[in-house]
Amino acid sequence: MDASVSDKVRVESFTGSAARRFIPDLARLRAKVFYDFPYLYEATPDYEEKYLQTYTASPDSVIVIAFGGQGIVGAATALPLAHEPDYATAPFKARGYDLRTIFYCGESVLDRAYRGRGLGVAFFEHREAWAKKLGRFTHSCFCGVVRPADHPRRPKDYVPLDAFWQKRGYRKMDGMTTAFTWRDLDESEPTPKTMQFWMKELR
Ligand SMILES: CC(C)(COP(=O)(O)OP(=O)(O)OC[C@H]1O[C@@H](n2cnc3c(N)ncnc32)[C@H](O)[C@@H]1OP(=O)(O)O)[C@@H](O)C(=O)NCCC(=O)NCCS
Repeated sequence: MDASVSDKVRVESFTGSAARRFIPDLARLRAKVFYDFPYLYEATPDYEEKYLQTYTASPDSVIVIAFGGQGIVGAATALPLAHEPDYATAPFKARGYDLRTIFYCGESVLDRAYRGRGLGVAFFEHREAWAKKLGRFTHSCFCGVVRPADHPRRPKDYVPLDAFWQKRGYRKMDGMTTAFTWRDLDESEPTPKTMQFWMKELR
């Protein structure tokens, strides 16, 4: 998708089931962005739509959508951590966190042509604002895939997002990882991928 300088982007939050009508477009966008390093994940529309339905089925979820002139160009998801499966909540339970107080940011995906104009920052701001509005959350967290620095598919100019996340106030949680399973582009079978958790206090 081409983004001209004059292409204004509108960012809007949809809570609970309100984003249901956008699911097919969001599924397509996720598939496009996650095909690239570091995710290297070939999505099927069916799986993507089911995944997104876990968000629209949670009454306290939020899906933040960036609309460009030609349609949806970016999106970010979040919901209470307690609504996530065991593999996401286990590291928090193991450390004695009260799951009811933690908000979980799912993913941020933005069409490449629209990067670097502050939309990634807006995605965090909108999700955290919703968590604060709900009133019962003291922390926000998310996880990101860990890839080796010498991964053969890593683009030469790839910049990890660590600095971006740190600037948003998130801290890498030592030893707090989990595994998500999918089939990489170069794999014949799905394998578990290490996911590192990051967390921030909501004030
Ligand atoms: C994550 C993502 C949404 C960020 O969106 P973005 O709109 O380009 O980010 P912004 O324009 O809001 O960037 C804000 C700041 O972070 C910086 N930044 C952006 N990407 C960065 C990177 N890869 N590394 C370091 N800093 C980065 C910008 O320079 C900017 O800094 P500034 O505030 O000092 O100007 C986008 O890069 C993306 O879709 N990436 C692919 C999918 C992905 O990996 N998602 C995250 C895990 S689900």
